[in-house]
Amino acid sequence: SDRYCVFGHPVGHSRSPRIHALFAEQCGQAMTYEAIEAPREDFAGAWHAFVAAGGCGANVTVPFKEEGYRVADVLSQRARRAGAVNTLIHGRDGRTYADTTDGVGLVRDLEAHGVTLDGARILVLGAGGAVRGVLDPLLAAGPQSLHIANRTAEKAVSLAADFHPQERGQHQTRVTGSGYDALEGPFDVVINGTSASLGGELPPLPETLLAADGVAYDMMYAADPTVFLQWASARGARTIDGLGMLVEQAAESFFLWRHVRPDTAPVRDTLRREL
Ligand code: ATR
Repeated sequence: SDRYCVFGHPVGHSRSPRIHALFAEQCGQAMTYEAIEAPREDFAGAWHAFVAAGGCGANVTVPFKEEGYRVADVLSQRARRAGAVNTLIHGRDGRTYADTTDGVGLVRDLEAHGVTLDGARILVLGAGGAVRGVLDPLLAAGPQSLHIANRTAEKAVSLAADFHPQERGQHQTRVTGSGYDALEGPFDVVINGTSASLGGELPPLPETLLAADGVAYDMMYAADPTVFLQWASARGARTIDGLGMLVEQAAESFFLWRHVRPDTAPVRDTLRREL
Protein backbone atom coordinates (compact mmCIF):
# COMPACT_ATOMS: atom_id res chain seq x y z
CA SER A 1 0.00 0.00 0.00
CA ASP A 2 1.04 3.65 -0.46
CA ARG A 3 3.21 5.17 2.25
CA TYR A 4 2.78 8.57 3.89
CA CYS A 5 4.19 10.11 7.05
CA VAL A 6 4.54 13.21 9.19
CA PHE A 7 8.02 14.59 9.82
CA GLY A 8 8.66 16.44 13.06
CA HIS A 9 11.16 16.73 15.91
CA PRO A 10 9.83 15.68 18.32
CA VAL A 11 6.89 13.98 16.61
CA GLY A 12 5.58 11.51 19.19
CA HIS A 13 2.72 13.82 20.22
CA SER A 14 1.42 14.25 16.64
CA ARG A 15 -2.27 13.39 16.10
CA SER A 16 -1.76 13.19 12.32
CA PRO A 17 -1.21 9.38 12.13
CA ARG A 18 -4.51 8.87 13.97
CA ILE A 19 -6.40 11.37 11.77
CA HIS A 20 -5.10 9.93 8.49
CA ALA A 21 -5.80 6.35 9.63
CA LEU A 22 -9.42 7.39 10.27
CA PHE A 23 -9.61 9.14 6.86
CA ALA A 24 -8.12 6.12 5.06
CA GLU A 25 -10.55 3.75 6.73
CA GLN A 26 -13.52 5.99 5.98
CA CYS A 27 -12.53 6.46 2.31
CA GLY A 28 -11.35 2.89 1.71
CA GLN A 29 -7.83 3.98 0.78
CA ALA A 30 -5.00 1.43 0.93
CA MET A 31 -2.29 3.50 2.60
CA THR A 32 -0.11 3.69 5.68
CA TYR A 33 0.79 6.85 7.60
CA GLU A 34 3.54 6.91 10.20
CA ALA A 35 5.36 9.48 12.37
CA ILE A 36 9.05 9.99 11.56
CA GLU A 37 11.44 11.97 13.74
CA ALA A 38 13.81 13.55 11.21
CA PRO A 39 17.21 14.79 12.42
CA ARG A 40 17.17 18.56 12.94
CA GLU A 41 20.21 19.07 10.70
CA ASP A 42 19.11 16.92 7.75
CA PHE A 43 15.45 17.22 6.88
CA ALA A 44 16.16 16.97 3.15
CA GLY A 45 18.00 13.67 3.67
CA ALA A 46 15.06 12.26 5.63
CA TRP A 47 12.56 13.22 2.90
CA HIS A 48 14.68 11.79 0.06
CA ALA A 49 15.28 8.56 2.01
CA PHE A 50 11.53 8.24 2.58
CA VAL A 51 10.83 8.71 -1.14
CA ALA A 52 13.55 6.18 -2.05
CA ALA A 53 11.80 3.69 0.25
CA GLY A 54 8.50 4.16 -1.61
CA GLY A 55 7.07 7.23 0.17
CA CYS A 56 4.33 9.05 -1.77
CA GLY A 57 3.84 12.13 0.39
CA ALA A 58 4.30 13.66 3.81
CA ASN A 59 3.13 16.23 6.28
CA VAL A 60 5.76 18.48 7.77
CA THR A 61 5.44 19.93 11.25
CA VAL A 62 7.57 21.88 13.72
CA PRO A 63 10.49 22.59 13.25
CA PHE A 64 10.63 21.64 9.55
CA LYS A 65 8.01 23.80 7.82
CA GLU A 66 10.62 26.15 6.34
CA GLU A 67 12.90 23.19 5.53
CA GLY A 68 9.99 21.65 3.64
CA TYR A 69 9.76 24.86 1.64
CA ARG A 70 13.44 24.58 0.67
CA VAL A 71 13.24 20.91 -0.33
CA ALA A 72 10.38 21.58 -2.78
CA ASP A 73 10.92 21.67 -6.54
CA VAL A 74 7.47 23.14 -7.15
CA LEU A 75 5.60 25.37 -4.67
CA SER A 76 1.92 26.31 -4.74
CA GLN A 77 1.24 30.03 -4.77
CA ARG A 78 -0.18 29.98 -1.24
CA ALA A 79 2.93 28.12 -0.03
CA ARG A 80 5.18 30.73 -1.63
CA ARG A 81 3.24 33.49 0.17
CA ALA A 82 3.34 31.58 3.45
CA GLY A 83 7.09 30.96 3.24
CA ALA A 84 6.52 27.51 4.73
CA VAL A 85 4.78 24.26 3.83
CA ASN A 86 3.05 21.43 5.67
CA THR A 87 2.44 19.04 2.77
CA LEU A 88 4.89 17.34 0.40
CA ILE A 89 3.95 15.23 -2.62
CA HIS A 90 6.31 12.97 -4.52
CA GLY A 91 5.22 13.57 -8.12
CA ARG A 92 5.12 11.00 -10.94
CA ASP A 93 7.86 13.05 -12.60
CA GLY A 94 10.10 12.51 -9.56
CA ARG A 95 9.84 16.13 -8.43
CA THR A 96 8.76 17.26 -4.97
CA TYR A 97 5.57 19.35 -4.93
CA ALA A 98 4.76 21.36 -1.79
CA ASP A 99 1.70 23.12 -0.45
CA THR A 100 0.43 24.58 2.81
CA THR A 101 -3.04 23.62 4.00
CA ASP A 102 -3.13 25.26 7.46
CA GLY A 103 -4.89 28.41 6.23
CA VAL A 104 -7.57 26.56 4.28
CA GLY A 105 -8.00 24.36 7.34
CA LEU A 106 -8.61 27.40 9.55
CA VAL A 107 -11.09 28.99 7.12
CA ARG A 108 -12.98 25.70 6.58
CA ASP A 109 -13.27 25.16 10.32
CA LEU A 110 -14.57 28.71 10.87
CA GLU A 111 -17.12 28.08 8.08
CA ALA A 112 -18.07 24.71 9.61
CA HIS A 113 -18.84 26.61 12.83
CA GLY A 114 -21.01 29.08 10.93
CA VAL A 115 -18.65 32.05 11.41
CA THR A 116 -18.98 34.73 8.72
CA LEU A 117 -15.63 36.10 7.54
CA ASP A 118 -16.99 38.06 4.57
CA GLY A 119 -17.16 41.69 5.72
CA ALA A 120 -15.86 40.86 9.21
CA ARG A 121 -13.39 42.87 11.26
CA ILE A 122 -10.71 40.27 12.01
CA LEU A 123 -7.94 40.50 14.60
CA VAL A 124 -5.05 38.05 14.57
CA LEU A 125 -2.83 37.78 17.66
CA GLY A 126 0.78 36.88 16.88
CA ALA A 127 3.06 37.44 13.91
CA GLY A 128 5.12 34.25 13.69
CA GLY A 129 5.22 31.47 11.12
CA ALA A 130 1.86 30.04 12.16
CA VAL A 131 0.14 33.37 11.47
CA ARG A 132 1.95 34.06 8.19
CA GLY A 133 0.76 30.65 7.00
CA VAL A 134 -2.95 31.46 7.37
CA LEU A 135 -3.16 35.09 6.20
CA ASP A 136 -3.71 34.42 2.48
CA PRO A 137 -6.78 32.16 2.91
CA LEU A 138 -8.18 34.48 5.61
CA LEU A 139 -7.92 37.47 3.29
CA ALA A 140 -9.44 35.47 0.43
CA ALA A 141 -12.56 35.05 2.60
CA GLY A 142 -13.22 38.78 2.11
CA PRO A 143 -13.01 40.43 5.54
CA GLN A 144 -13.60 44.17 5.85
CA SER A 145 -10.33 44.58 7.74
CA LEU A 146 -7.59 42.43 9.19
CA HIS A 147 -5.40 43.68 12.02
CA ILE A 148 -2.33 41.83 13.31
CA ALA A 149 -1.21 42.49 16.91
CA ASN A 150 2.03 41.15 18.29
CA ARG A 151 4.23 41.45 21.40
CA THR A 152 7.03 42.62 19.09
CA ALA A 153 5.11 45.36 17.26
CA GLU A 154 7.58 45.69 14.34
CA LYS A 155 6.94 42.08 13.32
CA ALA A 156 3.20 42.73 13.11
CA VAL A 157 3.73 45.93 11.11
CA SER A 158 6.08 44.30 8.59
CA LEU A 159 3.88 41.19 8.23
CA ALA A 160 0.87 43.42 7.56
CA ALA A 161 2.87 45.33 4.95
CA ASP A 162 3.74 42.04 3.19
CA PHE A 163 0.04 41.26 2.77
CA HIS A 164 -1.31 44.73 2.04
CA PRO A 165 -3.11 45.85 -0.07
CA GLN A 166 -5.35 42.96 -1.02
CA GLU A 167 -7.57 43.32 -4.05
CA ARG A 168 -10.58 41.09 -3.43
CA GLY A 169 -13.06 41.56 -6.22
CA GLN A 170 -15.24 44.53 -5.29
CA HIS A 171 -13.43 45.65 -2.18
CA GLN A 172 -10.00 45.97 -0.61
CA THR A 173 -9.19 44.56 2.79
CA ARG A 174 -7.29 46.91 5.07
CA VAL A 175 -4.37 44.97 6.58
CA THR A 176 -2.67 46.69 9.53
CA GLY A 177 -0.30 45.79 12.34
CA SER A 178 0.58 47.01 15.85
CA GLY A 179 1.65 46.06 19.34
CA TYR A 180 -0.92 45.11 22.00
CA ASP A 181 -0.89 48.58 23.58
CA ALA A 182 -2.47 50.14 20.47
CA LEU A 183 -5.35 47.62 20.35
CA GLU A 184 -8.89 48.90 20.69
CA GLY A 185 -11.58 46.91 18.95
CA PRO A 186 -14.30 45.91 18.70
CA PHE A 187 -13.52 42.96 16.42
CA ASP A 188 -15.98 40.37 15.11
CA VAL A 189 -13.45 37.52 14.98
CA VAL A 190 -10.30 37.31 17.11
CA ILE A 191 -7.86 34.52 16.23
CA ASN A 192 -5.07 33.61 18.64
CA GLY A 193 -2.04 32.50 16.63
CA THR A 194 0.58 33.08 19.33
CA SER A 195 2.37 30.23 21.04
CA ALA A 196 1.60 31.97 24.37
CA SER A 197 -1.23 29.53 25.20
CA LEU A 198 1.31 26.70 25.26
CA GLY A 199 2.83 28.25 28.37
CA GLY A 200 -0.58 29.19 29.78
CA GLU A 201 0.11 32.86 29.07
CA LEU A 202 -2.19 35.51 27.69
CA PRO A 203 -1.23 38.62 25.71
CA PRO A 204 -2.42 41.87 27.40
CA LEU A 205 -5.86 42.39 25.84
CA PRO A 206 -8.21 45.36 26.37
CA GLU A 207 -11.77 44.87 27.65
CA THR A 208 -13.07 46.53 24.48
CA LEU A 209 -11.60 43.85 22.22
CA LEU A 210 -14.64 41.78 21.26
CA ALA A 211 -17.84 42.86 19.51
CA ALA A 212 -21.11 41.95 21.25
CA ASP A 213 -21.54 38.76 19.19
CA GLY A 214 -17.79 38.26 18.74
CA VAL A 215 -16.08 34.96 18.09
CA ALA A 216 -12.78 33.93 19.69
CA TYR A 217 -10.73 31.24 17.95
CA ASP A 218 -7.55 29.67 19.30
CA MET A 219 -5.32 27.89 16.80
CA MET A 220 -4.17 25.76 19.75
CA TYR A 221 -6.30 23.09 21.41
CA ALA A 222 -6.14 21.05 24.58
CA ALA A 223 -8.40 18.91 26.74
CA ASP A 224 -9.35 22.08 28.65
CA PRO A 225 -10.02 25.53 27.16
CA THR A 226 -6.88 27.62 26.63
CA VAL A 227 -6.38 30.74 28.78
CA PHE A 228 -7.29 32.86 25.75
CA LEU A 229 -10.60 31.04 25.27
CA GLN A 230 -11.30 31.27 29.02
CA TRP A 231 -10.66 35.02 28.85
CA ALA A 232 -13.00 35.42 25.84
CA SER A 233 -15.68 33.15 27.26
CA ALA A 234 -15.78 35.20 30.48
CA ARG A 235 -16.51 38.25 28.29
CA GLY A 236 -19.45 36.62 26.51
CA ALA A 237 -17.73 35.56 23.29
CA ARG A 238 -18.38 32.36 21.40
CA THR A 239 -15.21 30.25 21.62
CA ILE A 240 -13.70 27.68 19.25
CA ASP A 241 -10.41 25.83 19.67
CA GLY A 242 -8.03 24.62 16.96
CA LEU A 243 -8.93 20.92 16.94
CA GLY A 244 -11.18 21.39 13.91
CA MET A 245 -8.44 23.30 12.09
CA LEU A 246 -6.10 20.37 12.70
CA VAL A 247 -8.58 17.95 11.16
CA GLU A 248 -9.42 20.27 8.23
CA GLN A 249 -5.79 20.90 7.27
CA ALA A 250 -5.27 17.13 7.36
CA ALA A 251 -8.30 16.61 5.11
CA GLU A 252 -6.90 19.05 2.57
CA SER A 253 -3.52 17.25 2.58
CA PHE A 254 -5.33 13.92 2.20
CA PHE A 255 -7.21 15.36 -0.79
CA LEU A 256 -3.95 16.52 -2.40
CA TRP A 257 -2.53 13.00 -2.12
CA ARG A 258 -5.60 10.81 -2.72
CA HIS A 259 -8.01 13.09 -4.65
CA VAL A 260 -10.75 12.08 -2.20
CA ARG A 261 -12.34 14.40 0.37
CA PRO A 262 -13.01 12.75 3.73
CA ASP A 263 -15.98 13.71 5.90
CA THR A 264 -14.27 15.65 8.70
CA ALA A 265 -17.07 15.92 11.29
CA PRO A 266 -16.95 12.31 12.62
CA VAL A 267 -13.15 12.43 12.77
CA ARG A 268 -13.26 15.69 14.73
CA ASP A 269 -15.72 14.07 17.17
CA THR A 270 -13.51 11.02 17.62
CA LEU A 271 -10.42 13.17 18.30
CA ARG A 272 -12.36 15.31 20.76
CA ARG A 273 -13.31 12.20 22.73
CA GLU A 274 -9.67 11.10 22.75
CA LEU A 275 -8.25 14.41 24.08
P1 ATR B 1 4.92 29.84 15.41
O1 ATR B 1 5.44 28.89 14.38
O2 ATR B 1 4.08 29.18 16.47
O3 ATR B 1 4.24 31.01 14.81
P2 ATR B 1 7.01 31.69 16.08
O4 ATR B 1 7.26 32.00 14.65
O5 ATR B 1 8.17 31.55 17.01
O6 ATR B 1 6.21 30.32 16.22
O7 ATR B 1 5.99 32.79 16.64
C1 ATR B 1 5.52 32.75 17.96
C2 ATR B 1 4.49 33.86 18.15
O8 ATR B 1 3.93 33.79 19.47
C3 ATR B 1 5.08 35.25 18.01
O9 ATR B 1 4.09 36.10 17.49
C4 ATR B 1 5.41 35.59 19.46
O10 ATR B 1 5.53 36.99 19.72
P3 ATR B 1 6.94 37.74 19.41
O11 ATR B 1 7.03 37.87 17.92
O12 ATR B 1 6.82 39.04 20.09
O13 ATR B 1 8.01 36.84 19.97
C5 ATR B 1 4.21 35.03 20.16
N1 ATR B 1 4.41 34.74 21.59
C6 ATR B 1 5.11 33.71 22.12
N2 ATR B 1 5.07 33.74 23.47
C7 ATR B 1 4.31 34.81 23.80
C8 ATR B 1 3.85 35.38 25.04
N3 ATR B 1 4.19 34.84 26.21
N4 ATR B 1 3.07 36.49 24.99
C9 ATR B 1 2.73 37.03 23.81
N5 ATR B 1 3.12 36.56 22.62
C10 ATR B 1 3.89 35.45 22.61
